[in-house]
Amino acid sequence: MDTLVYLRNDFEDYIPATYPSELSIQALDPEDIPGVAKIAKESFAAYKGHYHTDPRLDPVKATEVYSSWAERCCVDPAVANHVLVAKLDGKLVGFRAIRVNSSDEAEFILAGVAPGMRRRGIYRAFVIEGLNWCKAAGVTHVLNSTLLINTTVQKVCTKLGFYALESYHTFHKWFD
Ligand SMILES: CC(C)(COP(=O)(O)OP(=O)(O)OC[C@H]1O[C@@H](n2cnc3c(N)ncnc32)[C@H](O)[C@@H]1OP(=O)(O)O)[C@@H](O)C(=O)NCCC(=O)NCCS
Repeated sequence: MDTLVYLRNDFEDYIPATYPSELSIQALDPEDIPGVAKIAKESFAAYKGHYHTDPRLDPVKATEVYSSWAERCCVDPAVANHVLVAKLDGKLVGFRAIRVNSSDEAEFILAGVAPGMRRRGIYRAFVIEGLNWCKAAGVTHVLNSTLLINTTVQKVCTKLGFYALESYHTFHKWFD
């Protein structure tokens, strides 16, 4: 099982935050898609979501769920409407996918930062640019879900105006 926490940002008193200028956050270029899938594979290899924590599931296949999802975020507008990528000295170091759920609501759906590039504020920059994109798209609020144990995501997001909204448990039951 796992527990997913939904965080929400209502754009209350919205003033865009800033991040270091050496980080380049930009819209996905189709050439970046294999790199996005690779970062997803690296980022979610040791994840503690409900697929990886089920001992009956192959952990390699559990990781492939995320790389395949990341790839679909890049090519299928039903999965994601916008993908941001981070580049440092021209090298792809992370991605952030966003879906518009309705005229009022957008959702951050999948993100990863290359393991060697963490704790430099790249995820924080994605949240800032993601909020800017959602604000410009005209929605009134943004959702972001993450595992209850993913305190990094929760801390970065709450510092940027998100609050905890609700949470869900997902259980696996094998009927045999
Ligand atoms: C979660 C994840 C996206 C965070 O990416 P990141 O780029 O390392 O995140 P940030 O650098 O913005 O913030 C991470 C931490 O570094 C700190 N930090 C930011 N800039 C920093 C800097 N220049 N120096 C030192 N620390 C810094 C942040 O305050 C934060 O600290 P905290 O964990 O104590 O709150 C990344 O660890 C990852 O890809 N994990 C696996 C996949 C995943 O969990 N995806 C999100 C699913 S919703």
